Amino acid sequence: MAQTEPNNLSFNAQTALITGASRGIGAAAARALARAGITRFFLHYNSFGEGINALAAELRAAGCDVTLAQADLSVQEGIDSLIAAYHAWGQPVDILVNNAGHLVGRAKLAEYTSAHYDAIMNLNVKSAWFMTQAVAPSMIAKGGGCIVNLSSIAARTGGGVGATIYAASKAAVAAFTKGLVKELAPQGIRVNAVSPGTVDNYFHEKYSNPQILNAVLQQTPAGRLGDNEEVADTIVFLCSNAARYIHGQTIELNGGMFMV
Ligand SMILES: NC(=O)c1ccc[n+]([C@@H]2O[C@H](COP(=O)([O-])OP(=O)(O)OC[C@H]3O[C@@H](n4cnc5c(N)ncnc54)[C@H](OP(=O)(O)O)[C@@H]3O)[C@@H](O)[C@H]2O)c1
Repeated sequence: MAQTEPNNLSFNAQTALITGASRGIGAAAARALARAGITRFFLHYNSFGEGINALAAELRAAGCDVTLAQADLSVQEGIDSLIAAYHAWGQPVDILVNNAGHLVGRAKLAEYTSAHYDAIMNLNVKSAWFMTQAVAPSMIAKGGGCIVNLSSIAARTGGGVGATIYAASKAAVAAFTKGLVKELAPQGIRVNAVSPGTVDNYFHEKYSNPQILNAVLQQTPAGRLGDNEEVADTIVFLCSNAARYIHGQTIELNGGMFMV
């Protein structure tokens, strides 16, 4: 039977831009994409210089070309500075992973400030939207590309107590993932999202506690929390030719805790 594309995890890609690559899922995605054959990286980080420098050294030792950019994406100036750094770099991008994101802090309705709300929405929604706006023209000019956004199980459940606006921000990510398909699929660009459940990493070291994590574990049929590498592997799959007809999907990775 004739096939139009190779039915495997091959790539028509050389260059990846990943936000939030200094640790966790973003760093694992950079390593996994390098193993899959990506050779040029533009990697963003915010506060963890040690993490991003170690990752850059590792990728360079493997023969990759790596450019780094620092920016706090919870504020408009940081979003503007990352976009300016990307334009100054000036390379066409095949893969964009809008990964940078955080809870920013747990707060109940009565405790919310406007600044807290804006920080969550800037980091999780606005930065991903405007990075996509900045990068898409180079994909359109090349006739193709892949964008993977980070949503969350919180988008489906409303999040834990104090994480409501974080959950809303991740629902916005899942929604604009679908909306963008209508604009970008005709240009050869695939847009999808991954939606992790609870990944056992720095995110939860910072914002959860053993009681919260144990409660999640009790409700997870797979009997364990997720890890960075399995989210990264799904990102690699979505960017590969094996996923060539997948558009606008949000892939849930949660050990069966929440089944769509
Ligand atoms: N961990 C989970 O269970 C889970 C579940 C669902 C979705 N997610 C999503 O997965 C993505 C990656 O998170 P992770 O689990 O890998 O967490 P992580 O290990 O804590 O990494 C978060 C990354 O985002 C960056 N970041 C955080 N605040 C930032 C800010 N103000 N400005 C710019 N960058 C910022 C961090 O940069 P620095 O460290 O350099 O500051 C880091 O590179 C996020 O979008 C998160 O919402 C995570």
